Amino acid sequence: MIIYDEQNLLFTLHTRNTTYQMKVDHYRVLLHTYYGPRMECGDLSGLIRYGDRSFSPNPNEAQYDRTYSLDVMPQEYSTCGVGDFRLPSVELELPNGSHSADLRYKGCELQKGKYTLPELPAFYGTEEEAETLILYLEDAAAQIMIELYFGVFEASDLITRSVRIINYGTETVRLCRCASLCLDFLRADMDLITFDGHHLMERCLDRSPLRSGIQSVGSIRGASSHQHNPFVILCDQHANEDTGLCYGAMLLYSGNFGAAAECSQYDSTRLVMGIHPYHFCWTLPPGESFTAPEAALVCSPNGFSQMSHQFHNAIRRNLLRDPYSYMRKPVLINNWEATYFDFTADKLLAIAKEASSLGIELFVMDDGWFGDRNDDNRGLGDWQVNETKLPGGLKSLVSKISDLNMTFGIWIEPEMVNEDSDLYRLHPDWVLHIPGRAPARGRGQLVLDFSRKDIRDHIYRQLQVVFSSAPISYIKWDMNRSLTDVWSAGLPAQRQGEVYHRYVLGVYDLLERLHTDYPHILIEGCCGGGGRFDGGMLYYTPQIWCSDDSDAIDRLRIQYGTSFCYPPCTMGAHVSAVPNEQNGRITPLKTRGIVAMSGAFGYEMDLNKCTVKEKEEIRQQIEDYKTYYELIRHGDYYRLSSPFENDLFTAWEHVSADKREALISFVASASRPASPFLKLYLKGLDPSLQYQIDHSEKTCSGSLLMQAGYPLPVVKGDYQAFQIYLKAK
Ligand code: DGJ
Repeated sequence: MIIYDEQNLLFTLHTRNTTYQMKVDHYRVLLHTYYGPRMECGDLSGLIRYGDRSFSPNPNEAQYDRTYSLDVMPQEYSTCGVGDFRLPSVELELPNGSHSADLRYKGCELQKGKYTLPELPAFYGTEEEAETLILYLEDAAAQIMIELYFGVFEASDLITRSVRIINYGTETVRLCRCASLCLDFLRADMDLITFDGHHLMERCLDRSPLRSGIQSVGSIRGASSHQHNPFVILCDQHANEDTGLCYGAMLLYSGNFGAAAECSQYDSTRLVMGIHPYHFCWTLPPGESFTAPEAALVCSPNGFSQMSHQFHNAIRRNLLRDPYSYMRKPVLINNWEATYFDFTADKLLAIAKEASSLGIELFVMDDGWFGDRNDDNRGLGDWQVNETKLPGGLKSLVSKISDLNMTFGIWIEPEMVNEDSDLYRLHPDWVLHIPGRAPARGRGQLVLDFSRKDIRDHIYRQLQVVFSSAPISYIKWDMNRSLTDVWSAGLPAQRQGEVYHRYVLGVYDLLERLHTDYPHILIEGCCGGGGRFDGGMLYYTPQIWCSDDSDAIDRLRIQYGTSFCYPPCTMGAHVSAVPNEQNGRITPLKTRGIVAMSGAFGYEMDLNKCTVKEKEEIRQQIEDYKTYYELIRHGDYYRLSSPFENDLFTAWEHVSADKREALISFVASASRPASPFLKLYLKGLDPSLQYQIDHSEKTCSGSLLMQAGYPLPVVKGDYQAFQIYLKAK
């Protein structure tokens, strides 16, 4: 609910559990007065204290009032160059060369339903689900109008933000910085949690107390990156899964980003999140505008679980555009780890045949089906089927796959090109490169200039021929290197600061075309695993390959970190062969199945190499997954223990919305002699209900399972795992 108090210029945004408030003050500066647990409140600007702070300048209109300074006041969208020395949200370069921004409130607009953003991913919502507030701020000297957008999703406690900058003047202005989100707190006693890592180990939780100065994460790799995720948490220092105030902030963006928390001189904190200012500069001629990517906030007064549930609910209901929203997703098999580039149609069909006999429903042909792609130094850019490997083309292969009662999916990496390809030989100038420099290679490949529509059109035309040659129901969109040599022949020198962002817009454009032209196709995102696992991609690709590390034990950390923001159904997770291809670890098949079925489930191995007993186990795993699908897809997800803190085991739980069903998964990460008797304290159950355990006669009350705990069996042997299914009587 949005309450606009016109007389006091007060804007109060209520969600089910939270309240967010802003107020326009007597100099028409837009103050941020409160964000936290829901309060039935009036004007909260009394929380802001004023005092003479030396070296904190006073705006000209404050005359000689030294107690009024932008440098210490909580603001909704921070400025620069005019007296606030903390993190700026916006920075304008005017024709006279000055750098600054000074904003004053001009007006507001309320709308039913959720605003949309041109060319950018965004949460969507009906009039019943969401409301929109637009606040207009003006920099009169620069003749710039700034529209701040707020989307309020009451049920999921989600508040979205975006910003549009409009040049209504007569001269060209340059935008050097444009954050999506600024959030000021009148306190500094908080922890910052970020999700960091590297290729093969993404989104590991990192928590540290804020200290004086700026703590930041970000990416200047052209993708949101394996190294840092565009999702951060600020929280009480004692916050845990169940208690404490915490704020999660996600950016729906798949390119360079920055998220910085600044703890400033008088114990206040500012969080700023948006496109990274590195090599960003947008030229705004008169009449033109720039829109910043969307950011989304959830505040939970009761710890991380509640925050995650609200992000998961909002993402599942109002962000994913998943052709499988209302039906069960097929269990897939992908041939990558089984064959790499070394395959023929017969080899693929042999894998598919075995898979189909075990209950697998979708066959995905990974890298290597096109051009001269027999290793990773050639072929990218030539999106024509290699008929030596696949005689009769896709049509013949897919018809044989259909005969096995399976649907078919295909891998692509449209943003890239190898020098050894027909495309590159014809258009060597289509790659990102700086004139006079030979561009750096990554995985032996170069990056196509996706900021250019003519190049995207060419790639799309090639892909359309492939996609229309046979029925395809799934696409895996990969991206296997970071951007370097970022310069585009499509833009003049003074506009090169737009290329990184235009590249991302180009990726979104092609994904949107795919979504529009082939709405029935499920697109899985991938970037060498989880190098572009972000809310922006999820709008187009409702699941993302979580990591190239398919080892079940490593996945405990990766999927645990990912779950703080993103729901399990978005995490591509496969059972792969042992010893594991990435780390050589041997884990039981059961453990691999339990870990993978907590995500978008599939297999990535040659099932012909399995023993009869293993095949029987796989058949049962698939049955189990189908049985538990609804619970895993739509249930509330609880992290019962952290793989970063508990070196004995990791456990998690899916609970149905009506609390009548739950699935608990447990994986032992170490086996010890004389091990302690362990208990699991379950969560989210109805204390008054009796739950039947694993279809047996044995029952326990919800209160007992949550308060006294469930005694775990003693496990022997490495990496044992099991599930417990609870159903209310
Ligand atoms: C990286 C992906 O993450 C893998 O799953 C696989 O698709 C390879 N690329 C193919 O080149």
